[in-house]
Amino acid sequence: MTTITLEHVSKTFEQWVGEEPAQVKAVDDVSLKIVSGDVLAILGPSGCGKSTLLRIVAGLTAPDEGEVLYDNVPLRDIPWRDRGVGMVFQDSALMPHWEAGKSVGFFLWLRKREHEVPARVSRISQITGFGLDQLLGKRPAHLSGGEQQRVAIARALTRDPRVFLFDEPFSNLDAKLRTAARVELKRLLQEFPVTSIYVTHDQHEATALAHRIAVMREGRLVQVGTYNQLYSNPRNLFVATFIGTPAINLFEGFAVEAHWRGENFGGFRIRSDLDDGTRVILGVRPEHVLLRDGGVQAIVEEVIPYYAERFQLVQVRAGRERWQLLAPMERSIRPGDTCCCALDESGLLFFDRKTGLRIG
Ligand SMILES: Nc1ncnc2c1ncn2[C@@H]1O[C@H](COP(=O)(O)OP(=O)(O)OP(=O)(O)O)[C@@H](O)[C@H]1O
Ligand SMILES: [Mg+2]
Repeated sequence: MTTITLEHVSKTFEQWVGEEPAQVKAVDDVSLKIVSGDVLAILGPSGCGKSTLLRIVAGLTAPDEGEVLYDNVPLRDIPWRDRGVGMVFQDSALMPHWEAGKSVGFFLWLRKREHEVPARVSRISQITGFGLDQLLGKRPAHLSGGEQQRVAIARALTRDPRVFLFDEPFSNLDAKLRTAARVELKRLLQEFPVTSIYVTHDQHEATALAHRIAVMREGRLVQVGTYNQLYSNPRNLFVATFIGTPAINLFEGFAVEAHWRGENFGGFRIRSDLDDGTRVILGVRPEHVLLRDGGVQAIVEEVIPYYAERFQLVQVRAGRERWQLLAPMERSIRPGDTCCCALDESGLLFFDRKTGLRIG
């Protein structure tokens, strides 16, 4: 298995904006290590540079600066045929640089280690639940979108890749098929561990598949960690709001004598080095808003049931502020009701309003 290292990788594209040439920094000084057999998800909004980064790791795009290494050997020093990159894209089952010899490559490989192949193909078929050997003989046009994606993955696995790169492979499948495909992929990667990078918009997908998640924004890596680390310990407002559904509540406020004060809530201790009047945003996840007698009175605006999770999301308003909280399904709450809210002090996240950085 292979360890992938990125050292200060950057890539700028020239684009024409109207009549003017403009520079777009698609990837900006990214350093990252993915140890052998690990699965890393790259999560970030559209246009933040995820695909560009993946193409650089694949060796399909050369970085302007920095270096990609496989097992400490610079990628540019590794001949194409020895790189062993398996890549699966959103809208096709093709792996670009194997494209020319699609079936030829497969059969060459079969000949080289043919004694291992039948067992592997049959094990993959078992896990994915379809006859891989039959599907491999079919033309892509005769396979559904989901089958194409899964065949692409399975086929790459029969070729024993060193590195597996996925660019939103399931994003155009419907929700049910997507969950099934995700479970299959997870099982395949457990059975045949390959160092993998998985690009996605979908935080549930990232959590389901990856050991660690790298959050990207405007070409830069903002934070790398497990979902729990990103959720409970976000480095800045961007990660706090990007990770977590339903979304985190944000309250405007300021520092007074080492305490935070907002419109409705207040009196929470914060860092003592902040000048009075410094504007600080308080982030509180919905599960840390408690229904408690004697708390802040708020009017219920909407109640959204989450049947599968056995809770209801309650949206409330008090003065100019709105927030949401989770209540047990059994509790009877209706729009127009008044409820009393308190914040669980173990779940308070403070952010500098100017920089967005976490300060407590
Ligand atoms: N070949 C190219 N030439 C010029 N600009 C490019 C090129 N490829 C990407 N870009 C620009 O680089 C930035 C990052 O693009 P990229 O495709 O890596 O984003 P992404 O995170 O994969 O987005 P999405 O989630 O929509 O797929 C964008 O501003 C994009 O317009
Ligand atoms: Mg992309």
